[in-house]
Amino acid sequence: MIYPIVKFGNPVLDKPAEKVTVFDDELQKLIDDMFESMYAAHGVGLAAPQISLSRRIAVIDITFKEDPKAKLVLINPEIIHTEGKHTQSEGCLSIPEFRENVTRPNKVTVRAQDVHGKVYEKTGEELLARAFLHETDHLNGKLYISHISALKRDLIKRKIRKMIKAGEW
Ligand code: NI
Repeated sequence: MIYPIVKFGNPVLDKPAEKVTVFDDELQKLIDDMFESMYAAHGVGLAAPQISLSRRIAVIDITFKEDPKAKLVLINPEIIHTEGKHTQSEGCLSIPEFRENVTRPNKVTVRAQDVHGKVYEKTGEELLARAFLHETDHLNGKLYISHISALKRDLIKRKIRKMIKAGEW
């Protein structure tokens, strides 16, 4: 099932998501649907609040279907180590048509649970590090535009408000 993706302005994106405590078939189905929804939207990461579910679940595939082993499921993730700095253009399926350069740590270790509830740790660099941070931010009610200058952020918000008025958002 492909879920519609909610956009900036929807309050579900602004609140911290609820911890996952039940690891059952329903969760597996939801994760399969999240991958399907992410691919359908041409994304490399998707967090549950983006499909209106305030639960601490995110999926990532920075290879976009190239490597099945690159499919990552992050449940209740926590960033446990960061180092360095890396600046790259970043976007979000919930803020379509906008991109901005964002400086984030270059190397990031995340601790999360998999679909069975097993705790694991994974370290990523550059794009993968960025995906860990971007998706974990979503689960904390935070969007990437919180990491850019107030000036750039206000400009984006202004443009979005115009689009909302025009019925284009
Ligand atoms: Ni996003």
